[in-house]
Amino acid sequence: MSENYSLIVKNGSCYVNGKLEKTDIALVGNKIKKIGKIEANITKVFDASNKIVLPGIIDTQVHFREPGSTDREDLESGSRAAILGGVTSVFEMPNTNPPTSNLVEFDKKLNLAKNRMHCNYAFYFGATPENVDQLAKLKGLKGCCGVKLFAGSSTGKLLVDKEADIEKVISQSAKIVSIHSEDEEILNLRKNFIKEGDVHSHPEWRNTECAMSSTRRVVKIAERYNKQIHVLHVTTKEEVDFLAMHKKNVTFEITPQHLTLYAPDCYDKIGTFAQMNPPIRKKEHHDRLWVAVKNSVVDILGSDHAPHSKEDKNKKYPASPSGMPGVQTILPIMLNHINNEKLNLEKLVKLMCENPCRIFGIKNKGYIKEDFDADLTIIDMNKEQTIKNEMMASKCGWTPFNNMIIKGFPIATIINGKVVMSDGEVVTEGYGEPLEF
Ligand code: DOR
Repeated sequence: MSENYSLIVKNGSCYVNGKLEKTDIALVGNKIKKIGKIEANITKVFDASNKIVLPGIIDTQVHFREPGSTDREDLESGSRAAILGGVTSVFEMPNTNPPTSNLVEFDKKLNLAKNRMHCNYAFYFGATPENVDQLAKLKGLKGCCGVKLFAGSSTGKLLVDKEADIEKVISQSAKIVSIHSEDEEILNLRKNFIKEGDVHSHPEWRNTECAMSSTRRVVKIAERYNKQIHVLHVTTKEEVDFLAMHKKNVTFEITPQHLTLYAPDCYDKIGTFAQMNPPIRKKEHHDRLWVAVKNSVVDILGSDHAPHSKEDKNKKYPASPSGMPGVQTILPIMLNHINNEKLNLEKLVKLMCENPCRIFGIKNKGYIKEDFDADLTIIDMNKEQTIKNEMMASKCGWTPFNNMIIKGFPIATIINGKVVMSDGEVVTEGYGEPLEF
């Protein structure tokens, strides 16, 4: 049998059955075939000695801007950044131009991804007040991870802000609805809190009640209809405490930005480059998000990779757009947090591999198991490097973590059985496939 192996990952410390185990992993094509001591006479060997081999890291929230803003990012450049950062699969967002809110646009995206995306992928279908009939028929749509609902307006035109429409979308969608949870009415009412030229006023405008009011509303609707929803980028201590008591119908996600940056320091240091929706808030919120990680209340970590050009970000607030890139830095930032004992590897694997598969029903991924897909992220917990804008593959060319010294980096990315990134270089092009659900 040994001659059938296409690649052997040798001598790594591998995350198998919930713990690290020194073993080899033999691949055949795009599948993990055997885990154990493997003596085979093949030339294709990846030496993982002194390295940790994780299941492929999944980033469930990225904006790759194609079609519409391909000067900021496209499916090729965004997914290149992903594999350089050790990410093997992404869920990509529908607030493109035109938005991905009908089957024609959805199909276009799948075609644009084919043979261009370096990692595996699925796309969100955007909810509008008019497309509920389509949302009800999405079951089985190839490459679709779920429905994205913007309850408050952010980048792009997608918005479902009226309670009756939110209720229709949640109650009728055939796929899980993931929600950008800010209350549009409060956003409009509080516009007078925007201080021109002062990004410190961003979290005053988009305040905690704005997030909490929306989250309370969508959770109540999900419970009323006994439907499953997923709340994206939760930012407030109030929401964490509320969501902790409403886990039956609701899962939720947080970003590494909200776990790493806090106000006012981040706005003092990088100004509008720290502007995102929902905003980076004060330390008391940041601290509560860490409590949520510690207590396993939070389900998923997603980067909300949302690139904007430096030129746009340098505009005077509020003309500066909201969003920061993050797909290339999500794993190093979290590995650094592990080295600082803020969480452990087991928790990271739950948040970025196992839970996305469980919640969204991704098939054959999330675990290093025989007959599962051969997506692997190989890390070096001792590698130290300073993150630099110049290292970023995103077309936007900057990161909020510029000049941060990080310990813990991905050193290789294996996707569908092929080493696509090694030592910070893309070594194989274009092997992404749509995820199966
Ligand atoms: O800050 C944000 N930027 N939040 C979002 O919800 C959208 C994103 C973007 O697409 O720029």
